[in-house]
Amino acid sequence: MRSRFLSAVLVAAASAAGCSQTPSPSTPASPASSAPAATSAAPAASAAPASSAAPATSAAPEKVATPTAWAKGLSKPQQIAFMKEVVMPRMTKVFQGADAKKYAEFGCKTCHGPEFKEPDEFLPHLTMKNGKITAFADKPAVSKFMAEKVVPEMAAAMGMKPYDPKTHEGFGCAGCHKIDQQ
Ligand code: HEC
Ligand code: HEC
Repeated sequence: MRSRFLSAVLVAAASAAGCSQTPSPSTPASPASSAPAATSAAPAASAAPASSAAPATSAAPEKVATPTAWAKGLSKPQQIAFMKEVVMPRMTKVFQGADAKKYAEFGCKTCHGPEFKEPDEFLPHLTMKNGKITAFADKPAVSKFMAEKVVPEMAAAMGMKPYDPKTHEGFGCAGCHKIDQQ
């Protein structure tokens, strides 16, 4: 569920907050450290115009430091950079490793769909019945692949712990699929 995912995100955010990744040694007076999360529309990445010290990067506003972990409050360009540079290489391997032909075109749309939605809006819903996700019985092969390969790798890529059924914490099926209770 989304709330689980979010609580995991919060944990990740807390740990990530300590290390605000900035590439240039001469950080141009960004307010980042004092106002971390909520200012996603923030000046830091895109605006920062008066950075006379750093001419190279200022030309391309989309160029941002790739965050080291997924965290709440990342700006859109940071989210995209993270997806491209961290999630894609790792998850391409996992999916193509399972079926190179089927996933020859693996990309953003495999998870987000052609119209770019959140994965849990685009991907098929899962069903939870008597505390169990029914897909493990109905679609055992793909579910096994998801549980044993996709979840651990995606959790690691996102900088999160894999879902732990004892604590209900961590990144699991619900990180990508909506789960309907039955
Ligand atoms: C393996 C699945 C997967 C792939 C491939 C993937 N993403 Fe994501 N993406 C996710 C998940 C999971 C989230 C977290 C959604 C949430 O916040 O609930 C996410 C979140 C995002 C977000 C922020 C939330 C939103 O919907 O706006 C952006 C932006 C994004 N991805 C862009 C991309 C781009 C661009 C690519 C291709 C370079 C990509 N993603 C590839 C799974 C994937
Ligand atoms: C990182 C994102 C991600 C996570 C986490 C994830 N899945 Fe998936 N899942 C996908 C994608 C992407 C597809 C679509 C694959 C395709 O297009 O062939 C999919 C497809 C499936 C399907 C096939 C649905 C259908 O009707 O064809 C099942 C079943 C499934 N996942 C179960 C699970 C289970 C169970 C878990 C948790 C153990 C899980 N998934 C975790 C991304 C994810």
